[in-house]
Amino acid sequence: MAECATYGTVAVLQINNPPLNVLGHDVRSQLMSGLQQALQDKAVCSIVIMGKGQTFTAGADVKEFGTEKVFWEPTLHSLVEAVSASTKPVVTAIHGTTLGGGVALALASHYRLADSSAKMGLPEVQLGILPTCGVTQRLPRLVGLQTAVRMVTSGQTQSAQQALTAGLLDKVVTDDLLKKAVGFARSVDVRGLEARRVSSWTVPGADRAEDVLDAARKTLVRRSRGAIAPLTALQAIQASLLPFETGMKREAELGRYLWTSWQAAALRYAFFAERTVKRWHIPRNKNVNYRTAEPMDIKSVGVLGAGTMGVGITISLLQAGLKVVLTEVNKAQLDKAVSLIQRSLEGKSGGKPQPMQLRATTDYSQLREVDLVIEAVFEDLALKKKVFQQLDAVTNPRTILATNTSGLDIDQIAAATQRPDKVIGTHFFSPAHVMRLLENIYGRHTSVETIATAMQLGATIGKVGVLVGNCPGFVGNRMKGLNFTEAMFLLEEGAEPQDVDKALEEFGFAMGPFRVSDLAGGDVHWRRRIQAGLTTEHGPPPYTPVLYRQGNRYSPLADMLCMQGRFGQKTGAGWYRYKSGSRTALPDAEVHRLIHKHRQDHGFQRRNISSQEIVERCLFPLINEGFRILEEGLATGPQDIDVIFLLGFGWPRHTGGPMYYADKVVGLGNLLQSLEKYRAYHPRSAHWVPSSLLRKMAAQGTSLSIWAAGSRL
Ligand code: NAI
Repeated sequence: MAECATYGTVAVLQINNPPLNVLGHDVRSQLMSGLQQALQDKAVCSIVIMGKGQTFTAGADVKEFGTEKVFWEPTLHSLVEAVSASTKPVVTAIHGTTLGGGVALALASHYRLADSSAKMGLPEVQLGILPTCGVTQRLPRLVGLQTAVRMVTSGQTQSAQQALTAGLLDKVVTDDLLKKAVGFARSVDVRGLEARRVSSWTVPGADRAEDVLDAARKTLVRRSRGAIAPLTALQAIQASLLPFETGMKREAELGRYLWTSWQAAALRYAFFAERTVKRWHIPRNKNVNYRTAEPMDIKSVGVLGAGTMGVGITISLLQAGLKVVLTEVNKAQLDKAVSLIQRSLEGKSGGKPQPMQLRATTDYSQLREVDLVIEAVFEDLALKKKVFQQLDAVTNPRTILATNTSGLDIDQIAAATQRPDKVIGTHFFSPAHVMRLLENIYGRHTSVETIATAMQLGATIGKVGVLVGNCPGFVGNRMKGLNFTEAMFLLEEGAEPQDVDKALEEFGFAMGPFRVSDLAGGDVHWRRRIQAGLTTEHGPPPYTPVLYRQGNRYSPLADMLCMQGRFGQKTGAGWYRYKSGSRTALPDAEVHRLIHKHRQDHGFQRRNISSQEIVERCLFPLINEGFRILEEGLATGPQDIDVIFLLGFGWPRHTGGPMYYADKVVGLGNLLQSLEKYRAYHPRSAHWVPSSLLRKMAAQGTSLSIWAAGSRL
């Protein structure tokens, strides 16, 4: 766990807790006793702390979070203070990616040395907690307020060179860190020790502190969108201007506040949920699961359709070192795609895709030898069926055929082939080379090998794969669609687009639904509604009431905007107007007039609508649908739904995801009550009918987490 050795007058304490050398209780205990021995050993003049294996230490053991173990002595805090108080100089020698507690140890040491490839970072705020153990007090004293605020609140890692420039490191070395650290430790002198304790320093540039902190506060209020950890961290850093002991008390106080906050619990849940979804099984047959399945080895992938998604998917695959055959019917589009791909990969570590790795063609027969094809042609079922028939004919029978459809029936697509067991949905999110989510959809006949291969492919290209069952829109789009429906009803009843967007942005979304619609282009969904027979290019279908379609309440407002050619940013006007070349959404009197007239024409009485009602009306139907999805066995557990929303739809991470939020923040009883309340006002909206699973759980007073614990292998 931690090994001690002496090299002449230097004692070396090496953490050995693979793979990441996390500072669990055993490691802390052994480091502490190693330190004490070295202090007692008269032959030892200085001490080196370092790590074996791939990193110095990745910090605290997250598995201890939420348990008593984290408070067992020696705590990380006691260890760090013992290092700082050491009567012999302590040199920390850093390599690999050193996080959180590792940085705390380094800051408390008297000298900091690092290998040139080392990285240092403070990810605590991303888990809703504060970097404590003196980090918020020592770091600003060492690197100044501005850098400290950036490191603590962003969680971004610093390279060794950046850390050296910032003053966080004393020296960067190449090769043989142990030898260099021992040599360095021999050269340091106990006489200068007092001055090397960062706790005795004052924060540089303290006279400009107010301006720096004010500017940081403004940025954080805007960026953190309801997350409390970044602003709390700023308060702790501000306390570094006080005497060290006072600042430490403040840090401990704020640390406790965040540690016990609901947001820290939610962020911890989100962290583990991303790991839990890897443990997939098919709800109706638990024997088909991640343990029993063997994936196929995938070395080459065909991508069919070189549009927006085909380009992003190709970039992801090439970056992971896979060979890609990009196939497209339109030669001009293909050339454009290849140049986009090359530009995107230029300057990245992989450099330009080698000719061997990317083959671009208009000839389907080039797909003959690939291991897997991902189809990304237009969202049109007839076209997809035709294309799958062609793929079935041209590819090797062992090739897996995947579709990137946003919500079409996987079984119908599979039925166009002679190999339905090898057909699966691999739903990427746009931009596909950036978004980390891969929603994998199995059909009725998809084999366990095909499922395992799609899940493995996700991991290979750095995505988080979530396995779900087949239904219109799958999990993500099926739930998300409901949020926009209610957003429009809110406009009819009195809200303006900017009111709805503001309420959801305050809840934590980067953009409200109307700004998202303007960004994505309102025409995309308009075409889908036309295809679904809900509307026509000229208004409601004949003999159809304006406010009702297919048995449900319907708002035609989005259709009315599209009929005027207002598709959003690309046409300079949508729910907002946009100045030429600008993406800033400006409220538009035209839209307000259109909504106002619609309200008058249909007898809506305008009323004031609170932000709380807006949030509940937009999010609760979506959550209710999540319960239905669980009930229908389309997702393995609530974590799967939460990960889809966190990674695919920008759901604010500090709330844990829609299902966690419902379970732990709103409460299932309250959620049920609200659904009933809104249902009484909106009896013709099926999405307000509470799911029977929710009813059952609320009646039993059970929670989703208890229910889920039994459902996952
Ligand atoms: P797109 O319109 O940008 O690209 C489609 C491409 O397919 C075009 O370049 C077209 O020339 C090509 N194509 C059409 N028929 C073809 C054929 N028979 N053989 C080869 N190529 C053919 O469409 P986009 O946005 O890339 O969408 C593709 C698929 O991905 C759709 O099913 C869509 O629903 C889905 N999707 C789209 C997302 C988005 O945000 N754009 C997100 C997730 C899924």
